[in-house]
Amino acid sequence: MFRPETTMNDFRSPRPSMLLVGASRGIGLAMAEELLERGWDVVGTVRGDGTRLHELAGSYPEQLAIELADVTRAEQLAALRERLARRRFDALFVNAGTANPRPDDTMADIDTEEFVRVMVTNALGPMRCLEILGDLVRPAGLVGVMSSGQGSVANNQQGGRELYRASKAALNMLMRSYAARQRGSGRSLLVLAPGWIRTELGGPDATFTLEQTIPDIVDCLLAKRERPGLEYLDRNGKVVPW
Ligand SMILES: NC(=O)c1ccc[n+]([C@@H]2O[C@H](COP(=O)([O-])OP(=O)(O)OC[C@H]3O[C@@H](n4cnc5c(N)ncnc54)[C@H](OP(=O)(O)O)[C@@H]3O)[C@@H](O)[C@H]2O)c1
Repeated sequence: MFRPETTMNDFRSPRPSMLLVGASRGIGLAMAEELLERGWDVVGTVRGDGTRLHELAGSYPEQLAIELADVTRAEQLAALRERLARRRFDALFVNAGTANPRPDDTMADIDTEEFVRVMVTNALGPMRCLEILGDLVRPAGLVGVMSSGQGSVANNQQGGRELYRASKAALNMLMRSYAARQRGSGRSLLVLAPGWIRTELGGPDATFTLEQTIPDIVDCLLAKRERPGLEYLDRNGKVVPW
């Protein structure tokens, strides 16, 4: 059984705060570190013990709290909502995501189980997070998801990575529905395309390192707080066509 192992950061903290879902490694971990360095409180979620986020907790005992959440498990998200019921965040960002191991597989090659796993992790999971956890964010706060440039239907001229693309396109479409229901709410809603980055998911051939991209990713996220409504942006704040 998982026990949140850090002390919950101070509810009355004067610092801005973010609930960051999927912060154990890769882009999510680096985003957490960047936000902590910039003086934010972060509640970062992981799926188990002994992650790199746990290592970071020692350096930021006041600012970082770690919680459990597998985005594919609705009951874990409901339990997280309960544990955080007294908190209010300035931002909620769902970074968690996955890809199928053989990116060039077509729909003829992909088995149904793998299709479901990627879709549930990349589309259903993040949107469930927003639906279940969204009201923990202050009314004029930011709610965002990590999509990908590959989720753009308009920009897809060359195919490839077809299941991954489809899962992020589904996420984008679900975000548009969510935004339509929130119209006029004052919320800032972000669908972010971070660029091709060297992580486990991005692979060793990716164009950019985490060091090259994370400051821009965090800048883009924080700047979006000033602009209510939904935008699909790359990390430099440039609009990506849907
Ligand atoms: N790297 C790129 O080039 C790139 C480009 C565009 C978009 N993205 C997107 O950026 C996000 C982060 O990717 P990354 O490159 O940092 O990948 P990564 O290094 O593979 O990290 C994936 C993260 O998602 C978490 N995660 C996976 N499945 C989850 C689940 N069911 N519930 C909760 N957390 C889950 C992982 O947690 P565990 O440690 O527990 O597995 C990990 O923290 C993803 O949404 C990805 O699609 C990445």
